[in-house]
Amino acid sequence: MPAFSATAPGKIILFGEHAVVYGRPAIAVPVTQVKARAIVTANPRGQPGQVDIHAPDVGLNAGLADLPKDHPLATAVYLAAERLQVRRIPACSLKVTSTIPLAAGLGSGAAVTVAILRAFSAFLGNPLPDEQVSELAFEVEKLHHGTPSGIDNNVVTYARPVYYVRGEPMQVITITRPFTIVIGDTGIPSPTARAVSDVRQAWEGNRDHHEALFDSAGAIADSARQAIESGNVELLGPLMDANHGLLVKMGVSCPELEHLVKAARTAGAFGAKLSGAGRGGNMIALVTPEIANKVANALQNAGAVNVLTTQVGG
Ligand code: MEV
Repeated sequence: MPAFSATAPGKIILFGEHAVVYGRPAIAVPVTQVKARAIVTANPRGQPGQVDIHAPDVGLNAGLADLPKDHPLATAVYLAAERLQVRRIPACSLKVTSTIPLAAGLGSGAAVTVAILRAFSAFLGNPLPDEQVSELAFEVEKLHHGTPSGIDNNVVTYARPVYYVRGEPMQVITITRPFTIVIGDTGIPSPTARAVSDVRQAWEGNRDHHEALFDSAGAIADSARQAIESGNVELLGPLMDANHGLLVKMGVSCPELEHLVKAARTAGAFGAKLSGAGRGGNMIALVTPEIANKVANALQNAGAVNVLTTQVGG
């Protein structure tokens, strides 16, 4: 039986999370060590329209028709079929697996959607181009949290380092000199929707204060882009520390993230910050390859449940 398989990587936000929802620039890069995979296999014995969905990581085993229409996995399938003007989906099974930790700021929702859109459109005989995959994944992101900026679907679809301003086409950043990032997971699941909506509430309560924080985060993202493109990666450490300070003021850090950020800096990281929605999930630290293990060990000793080292560029 031919199977149609597709993957999409995880991601980290280097600079500008939350502020990007309010129109400021942000920078994100793919993390290819973790990925989501979707496999679609035809079921010649099934009835047209019968789509069996298995997602063992989240304990889901259901028919497409049994899921709510706005379930993120179902929506990805419907959107692919609708875009390709397929009225009756041929009987098939869809298996979704992922090594990207859930609700950890690593883009698992977007990656699962992108993998499904790719595998499903290939199964339907017309693989969607990246531009459409990203556009449809953005629609599904809206179900995960009402006001996504669009950065996650872009970085995950194109699997390239991106500079992103909401509503504008993403720009690929050239990494002139590769650099190394250690990612530490607090192990605290933090749905993006909650953090994003808390920031919105705080912004509504004191717009001037929050607009100023977003402006500063946007300026940091611009300086970081310059540093990355000119190969001055050592400038990124202080920029990460400054961005983290702003995220603390936005109210999206937590004691566990603070503990890991401090542990990374004490172990010699050049800068560290939370990454993604915050309130749990992951933090990132800038290191050289020589001190990557030392920082990774320090994060583990400080309670990180998972530590990954990734090279950006190169
Ligand atoms: C989530 O990865 C990043 C946030 O800025 C939300 C978004 O951009 O949609 C917190």
